[in-house]
Amino acid sequence: MPEGIVRVGLIGCGGIAPAHLDAYQLNEKARVVGVMDVDESRAAALAKSAGATPYTDYLQMIEKERLDAVSLLTPPSSHREIAEHVLAAGVHLFAEKPLAWTAAEGQAMAEAARRAETRRCRHS
Ligand SMILES: NC(=O)c1ccc[n+]([C@@H]2O[C@H](COP(=O)([O-])OP(=O)(O)OC[C@H]3O[C@@H](n4cnc5c(N)ncnc54)[C@H](O)[C@@H]3O)[C@@H](O)[C@H]2O)c1
Repeated sequence: MPEGIVRVGLIGCGGIAPAHLDAYQLNEKARVVGVMDVDESRAAALAKSAGATPYTDYLQMIEKERLDAVSLLTPPSSHREIAEHVLAAGVHLFAEKPLAWTAAEGQAMAEAARRAETRRCRHS
């Protein structure tokens, strides 16, 4: 893959996922290389149209695909847990709205993003 391309993964392959895929495909600096869903058949179907690799484990996808960023497209009740793991792995995160199920969960996600940014600044 050419230098400077952002390697993207999609977490959640439901109703909104094709819109994210379309947007990334219009951006020559981004490439969707992995898609993940707890429902294997949904991941497989989206992977086919994306030309990406399907996963049922997002941490495995992050590691194997050396992701730079993910779109988080699961139901809001799962956003906090997934976001904390993604950010701890040093990967940029775009989360669908609503950000989280409760304000406290949203605040925890924002805090996890700040911690990730602090680590990134220390290492750059
Ligand atoms: N569909 C829309 O038009 C729309 C618009 C605005 C915002 N959103 C937001 O986008 C997000 C997704 O919405 P949707 O309509 O695509 O939902 P959806 O129910 O169609 O799809 C969600 C997908 O996530 C998968 N999933 C559930 N829990 C998971 C987990 N823990 N790990 C991995 N995969 C998991 C499900 O199997 C499913 O395929 C939500 O936050 C929603 O509020 C959707």
